[in-house]
Amino acid sequence: MARKGRASLGIGMIGTKFMGRAHSVGWAGAGKFFDLALRLDRACVAGRDAAETHEFARRWEWQRSTADWRSLIASAEVDLVDICTPNHCHAEMAIAALAAGKCVACEKPLAGTLSDARRMAKAAKAGARRGLKTCVWFNYRRCPAVALAHLWAKSGRLGKIRHVRATYLQDWGGPSTPLLWRFQADQAGSGAHGDLNAHIVDMARFITGCEVTEVTGAIAETFVKRRTVVSSTGGAISGSKARKSKRGAAATGASTVDDCVLFLARMEQGIVASFEATRLATGNKNRNTIEINGDRGSIKFDFERMNELEWWDDSLPQEQRGWSRVMCTEAVHPYAHAYWPSAHLIGYEHTFVSQCADMARALSGASPEVPLCDFEDALRTQAVLDAALRSARLKRAVEVPLE
Ligand SMILES: NC(=O)c1ccc[n+]([C@@H]2O[C@H](COP(=O)([O-])OP(=O)(O)OC[C@H]3O[C@@H](n4cnc5c(N)ncnc54)[C@H](O)[C@@H]3O)[C@@H](O)[C@H]2O)c1
Repeated sequence: MARKGRASLGIGMIGTKFMGRAHSVGWAGAGKFFDLALRLDRACVAGRDAAETHEFARRWEWQRSTADWRSLIASAEVDLVDICTPNHCHAEMAIAALAAGKCVACEKPLAGTLSDARRMAKAAKAGARRGLKTCVWFNYRRCPAVALAHLWAKSGRLGKIRHVRATYLQDWGGPSTPLLWRFQADQAGSGAHGDLNAHIVDMARFITGCEVTEVTGAIAETFVKRRTVVSSTGGAISGSKARKSKRGAAATGASTVDDCVLFLARMEQGIVASFEATRLATGNKNRNTIEINGDRGSIKFDFERMNELEWWDDSLPQEQRGWSRVMCTEAVHPYAHAYWPSAHLIGYEHTFVSQCADMARALSGASPEVPLCDFEDALRTQAVLDAALRSARLKRAVEVPLE
């Protein structure tokens, strides 16, 4: 939170790889594209290797770097701690930041485990009593098409919602992909599930405004049981060096997470839903899709065509009904007004820019363009993820506890 008499927000970011880069773009761009009451200062970045982190700070224009994330949290110039580290780090870092009186923006999933997520939500609640805010990077909420679907569902344009059909399909997790942290349960919590289902569960809850109440059945499968051990503990999908065993062959270790999780669920207001996440759906590169059917209309979104929202208006005369493709690139569309002239496309990085802008708005007392996800909200998604894994293990329906 910006301190009194200071119209700036000092950001301290932990983690310098995939999300560290995406968030750097976000923090740098938000104040340029959006008119914000707060100036966003990229005050300090923390990584594990001092020289690498120093170079990262130089390249992405952070004022200072450190190899000690605890010192970043303690820094007077840091008002908000941005966590871009593997899932098992989230709880320790977020709880320490809140205890130090800092606001927190944490990557998704909120944590690797439901118990960590609960501890984080509890700390956030205590922090809120001291005026501290939390946020989780469910950035797909800020695709203009997803935000538009949320606004339409809220205004009743879809009518009574009956079905949610969501998939998040990628294909980079084949046998040649090494044993990154993403394949280790003690660091990731789960595999494709926490990585990808987390996003689509959040999107389903966000667009419909309804909670998942029950997982009625689930399948979790690990197709690739062993993977090459890498010398780097980083998670970069490519680029880590395989570690050789004494005999010269690359050593392998067990993958302890799912490669895919599929589940059926019930949501509030009688909605039925299906979710599927995998990193082994050959040919599907980043197919984060959701289809929602209501009794007045339906929407379809596919991240591979993120600027478009498909729309079926069932209130039209029958001879006019058909799927239409709305280009969400006009000034009337959420977030699109901040970027380019009509019909000029935006990309993945803009979802981070827009989220940074919305966080800055929220911290200055203004409203975000569409709701942000805080720790309490993200805990609901974590509870659904946990219920799905229990359902797969027990081979039966599992209620989602009201957190
Ligand atoms: N919102 C999205 O679209 C999205 C996409 C990818 C990843 N994520 C999430 O972002 C988080 C990070 O993922 P990533 O892809 O950037 O991973 P990554 O492996 O590319 O980067 C992780 C970073 O954390 C650092 N790190 C690891 N352990 C640390 C420790 N103990 N102390 C300090 N730094 C440490 C690493 O050095 C590295 O800089 C994860 O929670 C992941 O689920 C979100």
